[in-house]
Amino acid sequence: MSDEIMTYSSGGEEILSGSCLSDDHEPEILSLRPMFISDYIGQGEVVETLKIAIEAAKQRGEPIDHVLFHGPPGLGKTTLAHIIANETGSNLTVTSGPALEKGGDLIGILTHLEEGDILFIDEIHRTPKTVEEFLYPAMEDFAIDFVFDKGVNARSHRYRLKRFVLVGATTRVGLLSAPLRERFGIFRTLDFYSEKELMVIVRRSASLLKIEIGEEAAYELSRRSRGTPRIVNRLLKRVRDYAQVRGDGVINKKTVKEALALEGVDEKGLTTLDCRYLKTVIEFYKGGPVGIEAIAATLQEEADTLVDVVEPFLLKIGFIVRTSSGRKASEEAYRHLGYSIE
Ligand code: ADE
Repeated sequence: MSDEIMTYSSGGEEILSGSCLSDDHEPEILSLRPMFISDYIGQGEVVETLKIAIEAAKQRGEPIDHVLFHGPPGLGKTTLAHIIANETGSNLTVTSGPALEKGGDLIGILTHLEEGDILFIDEIHRTPKTVEEFLYPAMEDFAIDFVFDKGVNARSHRYRLKRFVLVGATTRVGLLSAPLRERFGIFRTLDFYSEKELMVIVRRSASLLKIEIGEEAAYELSRRSRGTPRIVNRLLKRVRDYAQVRGDGVINKKTVKEALALEGVDEKGLTTLDCRYLKTVIEFYKGGPVGIEAIAATLQEEADTLVDVVEPFLLKIGFIVRTSSGRKASEEAYRHLGYSIE
């Protein structure tokens, strides 16, 4: 196995750790993450679905159905997996599609799961096909089928697994095969957060980090965080540093504005990459329509990064539209970047 696997006990502490940590698993991000569903802000319908599923399963004394979360990065898919484990008092094992290189990597994890344990597979759409095939009987029948020999000598042996819960997360549900998608009993899409919800999140985070932040500063940060809790929490820390070193330690609207300018975050929360993307469509491709591969080649960025990280928010605020012949920049995008529209 090339990448990380982590197992957490239901108390939340890590009990087995692999190599490098992705930004989602950094200790400070973990500490800002709500541990229980009652502390979770936003995603009302998703939270209600989970509350019902957890309560119903508890009453029946069974594990909950497999859960698939879909949505752009930073909206809380990993957080919700931790919450499900905490609420059901189960252990959580965290891995990702690309980390599962061979069938044996997955089998090793599955055979160590206890009844009701949660297995979280991030970026599940990037699981290799050969590994994915082990997931079907594991999810449906809680079994792994081993095949020995080939042709007329082929024999199969079924290994029973404990009833575990698979929580999958994906930024691209369209890339998930139908057989895998259909094996999840609960499928929910996470949407961007409102400014109001982000304000509650950033004030909660500020209080956990023992930072003082006023209403105006919290609003300024929230409205420039692209509807994303991970971004508002990251920017809060940059503003804290800035206020401490360049200001008098107080976080106000002025320090937020100065710190965000330094971070390359504009009035609407767009980053340098967002603006480069829009300028490429507008200047290089005359506003579109243009294919994603052409934009990626011009920007010298991965097309996947643009689709997963850049485009969802630009689509959400109507700065780009996706048509059958490619991406087009909207009039709002032209105006925001200071281009005149004839
Ligand atoms: N921190 C990050 N995401 C959060 C959320 N949805 N609710 C509360 N705190 C958070």
